[in-house]
Amino acid sequence: MEIIIQPDAGQASLTAARIVAKTVREKPHAVIGFATGRTPLKLYEQLVSMHLEDGLDFSGVTSFNLDEYVGIEPTHPASFHSYMWHNLFSRINIPKERIHIIDGMTPDIPAYCRHYEAAIKTAGGIDVQILGIGKNGHIGFNEPSSSLSSRTRIKTLTEATRLDLAEEFGGLDRVPHHVITMGLGTIMESRACVLLAFGASKARAVARAVEGPVTAMMPASVLQMHPRAVFVLDREAAGELELADYYSWVYEHKPDWQKY
Ligand code: PGA
Repeated sequence: MEIIIQPDAGQASLTAARIVAKTVREKPHAVIGFATGRTPLKLYEQLVSMHLEDGLDFSGVTSFNLDEYVGIEPTHPASFHSYMWHNLFSRINIPKERIHIIDGMTPDIPAYCRHYEAAIKTAGGIDVQILGIGKNGHIGFNEPSSSLSSRTRIKTLTEATRLDLAEEFGGLDRVPHHVITMGLGTIMESRACVLLAFGASKARAVARAVEGPVTAMMPASVLQMHPRAVFVLDREAAGELELADYYSWVYEHKPDWQKY
């Protein structure tokens, strides 16, 4: 794993944007996995600027999103469809037909999940998967106790996660209980994973994911088994890492050819 600690969320987001941009420049038909939530907002702003100002071209890119709420229409303001169109897709030149966001209204969830997994394979697999992390260590909506080899499927949100989402839905009672999410096994097949975490509220989950045991109780810890997982953190989110100084030294002394 590579642990990159930046002074603030803005600089960490720029680092993550450079990783995505490098992938897209080197492979114009790259497949990018996108995440939602508050954390990647600055990353998406950076990608929009790179598109508008530096001509970063998304016309050949295919995208897959991690998850969506069950029973929420794509037009609902808190849906991940709305989030992605508002924050990224309407502002870059990715073709609509190459965008894949899970349909939370599907009448046949198991068949739909199989179809989503097959679509990822048909597209050639995900080159870079962007991830956030929940305070309980979830990635996507793989809540604690998710199988480390799980595939895209329905999951039930924990109360803690529903509480974190209450503001977006205008009250806890409006937050759905069910979601469809890529599984940990699905995420692990991405060629690279870039996990972003900002703020002290994520420090414990980050430390357990990076330095704790690999366990289904801390789903992000499965990334310890990934050959190319990069954690991009601000100082606060890195606050409980035992080897923080070591990670910073390694990053500062990276040879030029390895830099993003
Ligand atoms: P957040 O969510 O970016 O809104 O903190 C992260 C997550 O739950 O994965």
